Amino acid sequence: MHIIVTESYDASAAFVADMIAELINKKPDCKLGLATGGTPVPIYKKLIGKNAAGEVDFAQVRTVNLDEYCGLAGDHDQSYRYFMDTNLFDHVNINKANTFVASGLGDPAANAAELDAKVAEGGPCDLQLLGIGNNGHIAFNEAGDCLKAESHIETLTESTIRANARFFEKEEDVPTTAITMGMKGILSAKCLVLVATGAAKADAIRQLVCGGEITTHNPSTFMKLHPNAWVVIDRALADAAGYKG
Ligand code: GLP
Repeated sequence: MHIIVTESYDASAAFVADMIAELINKKPDCKLGLATGGTPVPIYKKLIGKNAAGEVDFAQVRTVNLDEYCGLAGDHDQSYRYFMDTNLFDHVNINKANTFVASGLGDPAANAAELDAKVAEGGPCDLQLLGIGNNGHIAFNEAGDCLKAESHIETLTESTIRANARFFEKEEDVPTTAITMGMKGILSAKCLVLVATGAAKADAIRQLVCGGEITTHNPSTFMKLHPNAWVVIDRALADAAGYKG
């Protein structure tokens, strides 16, 4: 794994935005796997700035998102479709028909099959952006005794519900289930880029960057199996995680 330690979270966001822009410039019709949560927001802001400055062109870019809450329609302000539209897609020259966020409504099995079909369509993602939950979850593949290869519906853990409650009016409003890309879909991308900041992530990041252990109790550790995986953290988080590299 390539472990990049930057001076600040803003520098991490700039590093990842540059990586994505370089990829698009090299391969204008590249396929990006995208993530939601607080962490990618500054990365998307920088990409919007680059697009406005004429430094990157999204016209042919295709995207697939990692996950979506069950029970929220795409126009609900806490759905991940709404997040992607308002934090990136509405502000760059992407063709929204080329963007995919799984549906959280309707038949769960059909939605999961559709997500896997989108992951496979036209070949693997050139780059998969990832955040990480406080318990090490990636997308909504929760920490526990087993992980699933295919896309599926996941019951969210208390830790995840608590962490994501900050985006909702009250904790009871956070959906308790979500549709998520499975581990196989995530690991099928040609390049994985996980970005993290904040002391709450220190334990999860310690297991990821210190030592060679892989465990279902920290799904991010499966990145260690990938031949082209990047972890981008700021100095404060590296120190909190005890990373000495
Ligand atoms: C959610 C998302 C994950 C994300 C995680 C951390 O659970 N499903 O993809 O990585 O939150 O989010 P944040 O960046 O807000 O800490």
